[in-house]
Amino acid sequence: MFEQIERVPGDAILGLIEAFKKDSNPQKVDLGVGVYRDAQGNTPVMRAVKEAETLLLNNESTKTYIGSHGAPAYGEVVLPMVLGEGSPVLEAGRASATQSPGGTGALRLAADFIATQLPGKDIWVSDPTWPNHLGIFPAAGLTLHKYPYVDADNRLDFDGMLGALKQIPEGDVVLLHACCHNPTGFDLSREQWKQVLEVVRERRLLPLVDFAYQGFGEGLDEDAFAPRLLAENLDEVIITSSCSKNFGIYCERTGCLIMVAKNAEQMEDVRSQAAIVARENYSNPPAHGGAIVSEILHSDAMTALWREELTEMRDRINTLRRDFVEALKPYGLDQKYAHVAEQRGMFSYTGLTPEQVDRLRDEFSIYMVRSGRANVAGFSHENLPYLAKAIAAVND
Ligand code: LMR
Repeated sequence: MFEQIERVPGDAILGLIEAFKKDSNPQKVDLGVGVYRDAQGNTPVMRAVKEAETLLLNNESTKTYIGSHGAPAYGEVVLPMVLGEGSPVLEAGRASATQSPGGTGALRLAADFIATQLPGKDIWVSDPTWPNHLGIFPAAGLTLHKYPYVDADNRLDFDGMLGALKQIPEGDVVLLHACCHNPTGFDLSREQWKQVLEVVRERRLLPLVDFAYQGFGEGLDEDAFAPRLLAENLDEVIITSSCSKNFGIYCERTGCLIMVAKNAEQMEDVRSQAAIVARENYSNPPAHGGAIVSEILHSDAMTALWREELTEMRDRINTLRRDFVEALKPYGLDQKYAHVAEQRGMFSYTGLTPEQVDRLRDEFSIYMVRSGRANVAGFSHENLPYLAKAIAAVND
């Protein structure tokens, strides 16, 4: 039977990791997959994480299952991180946390929950969006549609977005990126989020908020503006949170499905279904990443250290955005790429065309997604002059 199976190209983002590894050019630059890099190009383990792991190694007493919702101690710290300390949503007992294998795992749980519990509801995603969204939801059996997000000039198209949201059939699910929009780096202002809230309320849409980069835009609380606004003003919201990036624990697969319901009673109903979808997918989530996060966030000292390290990462990225535009000045390209300094998060939708991206890879060993998305954390003061020269060459 296997002779009928067609070979397909691998995932475009993950494939870049392999292609980059194989390239022997000493000047090669990796702007592909969304992992943080320091000035040396490394993705180090955060000091707070190392401290937590040392404690875990010394104190761990069992490897038994942690249950389909994961460790209660993890949910206990993730809910206030996402929804805010003293959140009225938490005080009303309206939110449930289900630890998941990464933010991707949480998205798949959400997709399965929608497919099984809200049959007939379609999902709407931004155009463009993280390419894996286009895989996850149809894989769960959902019909996927797109709403506009950028215009022909590679700028945020808020009017187009809002207009399209107003046309979505009542009751459908709308996926929103809380912050650090992947792939574009264009985020909504607070005023714009309030307008989105009104449309979502009017159309009775169910928001599914993908929150993978908390702390990489403006700050931990600042980045949570949209999920908190929606959760506090709507009866029902789904949030998928990730600790991969803000704790730098990518390979530990540490995420959370947060279901916000109208009241504590309905939350328990929804929560019981979340446990079923988790059980049917992988039974119990992996424990280690969640244990790291809960160890850190249950300690004031480790939390302070972690926040400091996260701030350093965010500041570095935002500085590199400005330095990138500066580096293009001698080539007269600083205006053309000025938007890179204004975008937020790990990614920039540079506006480079697929053909230019191909040339950057083939002629300069610079790797990025063909959509023109660059991982800004891959910039460094060493490689910026080289990058600027290469970008000038492909703009000729
Ligand atoms: C990315 O978009 O590069 C990250 O979210 C990593 C991934 O899994 O694609």
